[in-house]
Amino acid sequence: MTIINKNLLSLVCTVFLMSTVQSLDNGLAKTPPMGWMSWERFRCITDCDKYPDECISERLFMEMADIIVNEGYLAAGYEYVNIDDCWTEMERENGKIVPDKKRFPHGVKYLSDYIHSKGLKFGTYLDYGTKTCAGYPGTLGFEATDAQSLADWEVDFIKLDGCNIDTSVMVDGYIEFGKMMNKTGRPIMYSCSWPAYFEYYRRPTSIPDYDILVETCNLWRNYVDIDDSYESVLFIADYFANNSDRLIPYAGPGHWNDPDTLLLGNFGLSYEQSKAQLAIWAILAAPFLLSTDLRTITPEIKELILNREIIAIDQDKLGIQGKRLSALNRIETWIRPVSPIVNNEYSYAVAFVSRRTDGHGYAFEFSLEKLGLTNLLGYEVKDLFDSKRESFKITLGQSLEDRVNPTGANFYKLTPITNRARR
Ligand code: GLA
Repeated sequence: MTIINKNLLSLVCTVFLMSTVQSLDNGLAKTPPMGWMSWERFRCITDCDKYPDECISERLFMEMADIIVNEGYLAAGYEYVNIDDCWTEMERENGKIVPDKKRFPHGVKYLSDYIHSKGLKFGTYLDYGTKTCAGYPGTLGFEATDAQSLADWEVDFIKLDGCNIDTSVMVDGYIEFGKMMNKTGRPIMYSCSWPAYFEYYRRPTSIPDYDILVETCNLWRNYVDIDDSYESVLFIADYFANNSDRLIPYAGPGHWNDPDTLLLGNFGLSYEQSKAQLAIWAILAAPFLLSTDLRTITPEIKELILNREIIAIDQDKLGIQGKRLSALNRIETWIRPVSPIVNNEYSYAVAFVSRRTDGHGYAFEFSLEKLGLTNLLGYEVKDLFDSKRESFKITLGQSLEDRVNPTGANFYKLTPITNRARR
């Protein structure tokens, strides 16, 4: 018990208890999914004459697929290329969903084959209700047909949204759709949206049954849609921080909480704020789904997105979701237990996130005691945003000064020091 400090005791215990709950057994999402998704950046742009580079079209997904492979994103782990809303015709044909004929002239299977030929995985979007959120045909009444279409198109990831359907029938509907996908024999990663409707969009709000989510889905959107601003990042971060005790137990290999896509590369976040979102999302074991124009991304932001050490934190095999530990003087401390476990001690990812705006880097002290870490020989500290910086040691009783830039974040990995490492 010496390894588990008071602050993390409940977290580790509840995660242990969860291992007895049965989870969806499709073998997918052993670590949080990584890839690219159209919604946050490209929304429902459908006028390809006016906006040829931005409209939801096969060209957009093929160009993103090319860049993901050619510019190192796939090698770093980003493997899904996912369509979101606004990709279909306004009406079904012979009961089937069909892609917009002008924007996807070769059909869905053609795009799926193209994406697969690149060594990538293909995802798309449906809505369980009568219509999608943007008004395209919904799946209600066509569940079996749509599940079969997904299998025929060789889809690897489905986001099933929850607009235009009563919350009271949602849960059973999602369970049923999952069963229909299973019946097709094709393993499809299942992203469910019903918690977002229970916890945020529908009044009165309520808390969904997370045991059912774990049994039914590989990931689920818990809360509000992300928008292109730091305010939006912090609003979602606050929800996860304030609800961490009840959400953390349900995250783990095969089933993840999803705070929505990464904004990096878009218009709304500065470089420092991009670091902050990346660090918080890695602490949360969040899906790393980019929603940005990879054709115009700056080298600095690309380097953040491809940071292998941060990806390794997000993708840590133990799959324990982290939490916000404290907030003092508008500097927040976020912490997540990760591997390796050395002599029964976890390693930790620790992020210091600033909500300050007062000009210069804010100086603050941190110590193992403040982090609640107890390894007697201390920890080796690696700066995850600065690969060139030499790692350093921190021991019990020691207080280190650090500075974090306004609205930015510092991010470290602390690995327990053992007798052997010390010699
Ligand atoms: C909802 C979802 C978003 C996006 C849009 C598409 O708002 O939460 O993530 O899929 O619908 O219309």
